[in-house]
Amino acid sequence: MQVKAMRLAMLLVLVLPVCLIAQSKTDSKSANQQESKKGKQKQTPTRDSEKSVKPGINKNFIDPNLDVDRYVKRFEVESREVYLLRERILSACEIKKGDRVADIGAGTGLFTSMFSTVVGDQGWVYAIDISPRFLQHINKQATKLKMNNITGVLCAENSINLPPNSVDVIFVCDTYHHFEYPKSTLASMHRALKDDGHLIVIDFERIKGKTREWTMRHVRAGKEVFRREIEEAGFAVAKEKKIGLRENYFLKFRKTSKSQKRKPEQIKK
Ligand SMILES: C[S@@+](CC[C@H](N)C(=O)[O-])C[C@H]1O[C@@H](n2cnc3c(N)ncnc32)[C@H](O)[C@@H]1O
Repeated sequence: MQVKAMRLAMLLVLVLPVCLIAQSKTDSKSANQQESKKGKQKQTPTRDSEKSVKPGINKNFIDPNLDVDRYVKRFEVESREVYLLRERILSACEIKKGDRVADIGAGTGLFTSMFSTVVGDQGWVYAIDISPRFLQHINKQATKLKMNNITGVLCAENSINLPPNSVDVIFVCDTYHHFEYPKSTLASMHRALKDDGHLIVIDFERIKGKTREWTMRHVRAGKEVFRREIEEAGFAVAKEKKIGLRENYFLKFRKTSKSQKRKPEQIKK
């Protein structure tokens, strides 16, 4: 009996380590397999520790072969609300002669050229975009139309790349929902805006059951969410302007101290 027990103990001493080594090999193999699976999964792009809120949304715009004419036909057409009501939008912006205006996400330059006429010789318009092809087009048009107060600025996906306190008005039309890194982009806008300056945001209404499906999918959030994000970046709503827009809203913000958490204010109408 005693001999049997001793044999069993010896067997355990010999076999157990082999089993443990085999098990640990299997564990590390499956861990490696999981790691390589993870590696194959799409990683969310990150800039300065901010994660993209909508990866890939600007894929077409940053394409070096972007067909600008196609977008001119798409953006500068009466069936697009912000184009149809562009004159009303322009006057609601209350831009003055001599102002320095930043048109963020200038696209085909629809509003850039309108601002250029309003601000005149003493003012300046910065057409800012992440799309090199749109900027080439804007520069070409500015030269052709002898609009000498426009500068195209190729910006980063997370910064508008303007110096501090350099502009009176920041205009963001149909572009806020394209910001992949809204926090850092907003911080750069806050820096660039003069203390008594204004930020104007026009974007799509996103109302379930009313807004069309394409917009619901394309635009990541509605007015209240965007408004909160902008307020958290140090802006306060000055006015929501009702100028006959149905698919879009027009919000005008003023600058407050940076990153001040604000209670939601009543929007003055
Ligand atoms: C739908 S278009 C709007 C163009 C123009 N504002 C208009 O209303 O006709 C959006 C534009 O935003 C630009 N964009 C996207 N992300 C941007 C960013 N982080 N900073 C500057 N421009 C950006 C795109 O390249 C594109 O030109």
